[in-house]
Amino acid sequence: MDTFDNFQYDSTSAYGGALTVVDDNSSVYTAGTHDPEPNTDLNLSSLSLSDSNGSHPPPNMHSHDAPVLEEDIYGVLDDLKDESSVDLPPHACSYCGIHSPASVVKCLICSKWFCNARGNTSASHIVNHLVRAKHREVILHSESPLGETIPECYNCGSKNVFMLGFIPAKSDTVVVLLCRQPCAQISKDISWNASLWAPLIDDRSFLSWLVKPPSETEQLRSRQISFTQINRLEDLWRDNANATLEDLEKPGVDDEPQQILVRYEDAYQYQNIFGPLVKIEADYDKRLKESQTQTDLMVRWDLGLNQKRVAWFGLPKLESGEVRLAVGDELRLRYNGELHKPWEGIGHVIKIPNNISDEIGLELRRAEGVPSECTHGFAVDFVWKSTSFDRMQLAMKTFAVDEKSVSGFIYHKLLGHELEPQILRTQMPKRFSVPGLPELNHSQMYAVKSVLQKPLSLIQGPPGTGKTVTSASIVYHLAKMNPGQVLVCAPSNVAVDQLTEKIHATGLAVVRLTAKSREALDSSVSYLTLHQQVANNTTHVELQKLILLKNEQGELSSTDERKYKTLIRICEKEILQKADVICCTCVGAGDPRLGKLKFRTVLIDEATQAAEPECMIPLVLGCKQVVLVGDHQQLGPVIMNKKAARAGLHQSLFERLVTLQNRPIRLQVQYRMHPCLSQFPSDMFYEGTLQNGVTAPQRLRKNVDFPWPVPDTPMFFYQNLGQEEISSSGTSFLNRFATFASHTTHR
Ligand SMILES: Nc1ncnc2c1ncn2[C@@H]1O[C@H](COP(=O)(O)OP(=O)(O)OP(=O)(O)O)[C@@H](O)[C@H]1O
Ligand SMILES: [Mg+2]
Ligand SMILES: [Zn+2]
Ligand SMILES: [Zn+2]
Ligand SMILES: [Zn+2]
Repeated sequence: MDTFDNFQYDSTSAYGGALTVVDDNSSVYTAGTHDPEPNTDLNLSSLSLSDSNGSHPPPNMHSHDAPVLEEDIYGVLDDLKDESSVDLPPHACSYCGIHSPASVVKCLICSKWFCNARGNTSASHIVNHLVRAKHREVILHSESPLGETIPECYNCGSKNVFMLGFIPAKSDTVVVLLCRQPCAQISKDISWNASLWAPLIDDRSFLSWLVKPPSETEQLRSRQISFTQINRLEDLWRDNANATLEDLEKPGVDDEPQQILVRYEDAYQYQNIFGPLVKIEADYDKRLKESQTQTDLMVRWDLGLNQKRVAWFGLPKLESGEVRLAVGDELRLRYNGELHKPWEGIGHVIKIPNNISDEIGLELRRAEGVPSECTHGFAVDFVWKSTSFDRMQLAMKTFAVDEKSVSGFIYHKLLGHELEPQILRTQMPKRFSVPGLPELNHSQMYAVKSVLQKPLSLIQGPPGTGKTVTSASIVYHLAKMNPGQVLVCAPSNVAVDQLTEKIHATGLAVVRLTAKSREALDSSVSYLTLHQQVANNTTHVELQKLILLKNEQGELSSTDERKYKTLIRICEKEILQKADVICCTCVGAGDPRLGKLKFRTVLIDEATQAAEPECMIPLVLGCKQVVLVGDHQQLGPVIMNKKAARAGLHQSLFERLVTLQNRPIRLQVQYRMHPCLSQFPSDMFYEGTLQNGVTAPQRLRKNVDFPWPVPDTPMFFYQNLGQEEISSSGTSFLNRFATFASHTTHR
């Protein structure tokens, strides 16, 4: 293993940062004993929010209660009967009712209390809750030994309990809380040793010096809740935060929505089944987004080139991964502090956290009244928008009621009816490879050829087999062969941009339609976007003048604004009509600006990553020929609500069509991976059919001196015997080496 020395994770030497010596005792636990493990007589100085000034009675950390005598138990059980009629205090564990202050903590996100006992489960109730609900911040009870304290990192203030740990200081009387990353690693402070860092959550419960495990007596008299009940209760809370264990018994709670089918009688049945699933998902998404309010934010102000106010801030809650923030999303920023009168304003996200910075950029819609002199005391809410769900519902309705929404053949095909195969009579091109793109290989050529003659085709290909190149080639021919525009979609903006670029390379006139909220955003195909093409048009002199004026002044008079809007609409229409191809996301195909257009041919790339109703949005604009491209061996669409996912919303249209015996055309030559990397996926997922279009020497990176165990095979397996830690999301185990290794080799 000597060869790997350089790559071993070394937390003491890898970083040069040092932490200043603690001289103010803030965020530091002071222990009153000489025990290196701070599990006795802890005192807290000033970490807490409350005015705990060390006057708390010393806690009895070793919960060595006197053994419970048998008669005590019966006495306790008798008491239980009486107590059931008595209301539990507000700080009782929401699972089991245990309520001694030293044994419970409050979840800061949902404000429910939980105890640190395991009951019948493998994790303590609080840890169970935090993991299930993806919450990660807690506060101790005011009457607990450490007082009303929020555990947080001494260095950076992070409150994520899955990241927090402690380092006993040399003085033996102080424990410092630091987050695992980055603070524990950069701490070079001599008064504590970073290698002694230990997590606050160990073996799935909080360390006993922080939250005392309830006594056996108390555990016995508590409500016995099973793991299944916990899971169902957590599910219920997502719908109704006040639900209780009793609600689990009520009828209707476990009602599952109707499962999707493989075949449908007609489009009404289709709508009747998918409609409710989309609604469940939408309601869930709304609740989730709206519950993500974050307070106590620090904001940095900036002025954009367009004279708009931009607020920059970090959003720790994003880390949980439950809510995904995208550029273009709307957020509401509020100020409720003392330095300015209360204010709120809506803006859209122009930058999300990336490798370089964790900051979010929010461009505010209006500049007036913005408290840009204030930096502290802001709060932010997600503004949920129903657009994408509305468009799915509308597409399904159109599919049902509008006979012209799709051709008869496509209608029956989508519903899974038996049909005679149809061949489109077309003039086939002489050459299948197209200008500006690589010469097609055999399987790609075959794919292009057969797609052009069929009203419905599926193309499947492992990563890097040229699905997007083939798609662009197909679009080229379709555009040349047919009048009208080809509509090209994919579920994600990134995929649409890649496709737009390749189609543009063939020389076709392409328009990339983006959502209004994303117009301020730069991308590799900005110059092809509709709004840019409008801005750069030379045919409308008056519009040019108004655009100039608007940029200079920030806004126009109301007459000018009206004129401006009318001219924009006219100009947009002209550009769309002149285009050969229009590219947008599946949801974007529901944009009103496309409302009057009909699209005879539609291609959807990465179709296996779209939920079925999402795919319907571009299809119901009059299609007669459909090409779906994807790979059902890769990840499917992301569905947040479990019920909706279970009922089948997570299955893509592509997959259902495959189940219906529509054979996908396969691409089998991959151009991205080193041949030694493609071997395993080929054997495991593609029955050994994946071939290499690149040779090992072509995939060799020069000037990289990495000590591969087998020098000409750039891969290795690493067995990591280190200690496991729960990751910051609480849902997986962390393997520090794995993270590190992938950083190193993916560069
Ligand atoms: N016939 C070909 N000859 C040479 N290079 C090709 C050919 N087809 C595709 N490539 C190259 O292979 C790479 C992958 O192509 P492409 O992005 O189209 O694949 P993909 O299947 O869409 O990948 P992904 O799974 O990431 O979506 C690109 O660099 C592309 O230029
Ligand atoms: Mg692709
Ligand atoms: Zn919670
Ligand atoms: Zn409990
Ligand atoms: Zn920290």
